[in-house]
Amino acid sequence: MNRIYLIVIAAAIGLAGCQEKHTASASGSNSKIDHRVDSLLVLMTLEEKVGQLTLFTSDYDVTGPTIRENYKEDIKAGKVGAIFNAFGADYTRKLQEIAVKETRLHIPLLFGYDVIHGHRTIFPIPLGESASWDLAAMEQSARIAAEEASAEGLHWTFAPMCDIARDPRWGRMAEGAGEDTYLGSRIAEARVKGFQGKGIGELDAVLACVKHFAAYGAVQAGRDYHTTDMSDRVLREVYLPPYKAAVDAGAATVMTSFNELNGIPASGNKYLMTDILRKEWNFTGFVVTDYTSIMEMIPHGIAEDTASAAALALEAGVDMDMQAGFYNDALGKLVKEGKLKESLIDDAVRRILQKKFELGLFEDPYRFSNEEREKTTVMKKEFLDAARDGARKSIVLLKNDKNILPLSKSIKRLAVIGPMADARREMIGSWSAAGDWKKAVTILEGIKAAVSPGTQVLYAKGSNINDDSTKYLAQAIQTAKQADVVVLTVGEAALMTGEAASRASLNLPGIQQRLVEEIQKTGKPVVVVLSNGRPLTINWIDQHISSVVETWFLGTQAGHAIADVLFGDYNPAGKLTVTFPRSVGQIPLFYNMKNTGRPMDPNNKYTSKYLDESNEPLYPFGYGLSYTTFSYGDVVLDKNKISQQEEVKVTCKVTNSGKLAGEEVVQLYIRDLVGSVTRPVKELRNFQKILLQPGESKDVTFTLTQQDLSFYRKDMSFGVEPGKFEVYIGGNSRDVKKAAFVLQ
Ligand code: NOJ
Repeated sequence: MNRIYLIVIAAAIGLAGCQEKHTASASGSNSKIDHRVDSLLVLMTLEEKVGQLTLFTSDYDVTGPTIRENYKEDIKAGKVGAIFNAFGADYTRKLQEIAVKETRLHIPLLFGYDVIHGHRTIFPIPLGESASWDLAAMEQSARIAAEEASAEGLHWTFAPMCDIARDPRWGRMAEGAGEDTYLGSRIAEARVKGFQGKGIGELDAVLACVKHFAAYGAVQAGRDYHTTDMSDRVLREVYLPPYKAAVDAGAATVMTSFNELNGIPASGNKYLMTDILRKEWNFTGFVVTDYTSIMEMIPHGIAEDTASAAALALEAGVDMDMQAGFYNDALGKLVKEGKLKESLIDDAVRRILQKKFELGLFEDPYRFSNEEREKTTVMKKEFLDAARDGARKSIVLLKNDKNILPLSKSIKRLAVIGPMADARREMIGSWSAAGDWKKAVTILEGIKAAVSPGTQVLYAKGSNINDDSTKYLAQAIQTAKQADVVVLTVGEAALMTGEAASRASLNLPGIQQRLVEEIQKTGKPVVVVLSNGRPLTINWIDQHISSVVETWFLGTQAGHAIADVLFGDYNPAGKLTVTFPRSVGQIPLFYNMKNTGRPMDPNNKYTSKYLDESNEPLYPFGYGLSYTTFSYGDVVLDKNKISQQEEVKVTCKVTNSGKLAGEEVVQLYIRDLVGSVTRPVKELRNFQKILLQPGESKDVTFTLTQQDLSFYRKDMSFGVEPGKFEVYIGGNSRDVKKAAFVLQ
């Protein structure tokens, strides 16, 4: 290597001996870094620049349909600036060495990975975690994930997923925060803060990636990768705010979605990537595509070949090409032929290099690949404790009519039945990244660890998760008959949710429904424990089983967390963040619908309803029970008329009317009764999670601001309109107390 040349580069970009602190504001531009970026850019050839815009997968993990065998050659040839699906201090160091030692400019690689709900210590799937309504806990789980990931050489997580999802057929609902825009925005913000910690450049922070931009959750019929078509009003009002909240929280990167939006695939969508993201929201980080989605613009039918797809993406504002290799293949040639401005490439390279500088990779490319830190960080006891706590907070008690729960720890014979009981692999859910399912605690193990020595725990599998075999059924019935109480564990396999996991039926798969019916027939007290990544249509269970517990996929500590709730060591307080429909025919079904001109009237045929199904959900948004009960007093407002500058304070006395201490998520909804455009029947605007001792009351007060009352008016300006508002407070979106005020 030419020593003089190296010194020139080092001086230009500040490679060696730089003592300055690495931390830079994640979203803001840092002029010193800008200068270093520019100094490096002038040294780069066109090919080297395009290499920085390219992200390839390693063969360490597979998260998409194509993998590239020669990625190490690509690194050496300077054709790739970032690698994903590679982790571990040792492996990332080896790959980094190729980039740093064997390429002309020694530019370090960026390592990205899907650290979605934990890295090694796995937390509940995001949909489950959102049911905790505990923003601090969600920030903490993202923080722990970042600590572990960054100790394993990773710089960048492909999270948080901020897609509003109102169609449970879509398997990716499991990866998000549910159906509500307000809650989704707050959670998106918390997760970004958690991942990015005290700031990019800190050793335990990773770049967050807001995905999938945009409106991926609205794919037609819930079929993955399908088309999205929606009005700008719905886009801006319902779907965009969580992405924006994440960007405002400082998220360093954004990922395009697979879907087209109103005819333009996201990866070629200038309206999304430039007009909204950069111009309206002032996003200064970089945009990466989803897996091969530049290539997918050919089958979408918007580009006819590699060159036109690559140009479309770059011109739309997409900086980095994940896995298609189209930028590599086409951009240089397009510039040389005069068909593309090199300045567009320069802008994209700048944005990517900026993050590499902020991360401190030019000072020390190996600073995150530290085997010692990896050993002492990964799956620490305190992380496992946090995972257990986060898991039990995510559990939703759906029914407990006969108060079978909590169970006594000294039941004589307790039967644990069902295909999820001993299903270790399933507990960590989909997108569990580097999580080791072998370390997960099963439901059976959790229960065995919790009961007293005198309790006999019987186990029978009952059925497989998703086939027609009845070979385990008879033994399960026999086992149930011998028991005093049955814990019946049913649900979906982990990989029936997540990417490419859409379902047309939301029933329990395989013969599990039959299993439940057979066990119920034994007449024994039965508690159904559900493990699933989306709402299921469980009407029969709701009608015939008195205790039902929703546990999602809870992660590494699943079994212990479930036992904590079943035996009352923890009083459940989770609330659904998605509506549970009664049947697939009701979908999409969400709480903040419009009223229509003919609101449902059971006695009037010509109103908005089904002939063969109720309009009501099985369980509404915000719903979840506790082992205690809460009563709500009247909703009291400090004013019943406000001006367009004023706020209104809303108070409600909430009382623990039961016998156990418990937490309650007190929810505030509004309705704007008449507007220049129609408004939903309810909209969540705030919530507080409070702890009350038996008999204790608390006045819970919220402040409704003008911002809370604003919406996109007829002319698409955002603001309030005078008129009457209703305010609702309750423990779910259905059972609420009401008050009203006028905005003058
Ligand atoms: C495809 C998924 O849609 C995306 O969420 C993920 O981050 C990438 N693959 C990388 O694995």
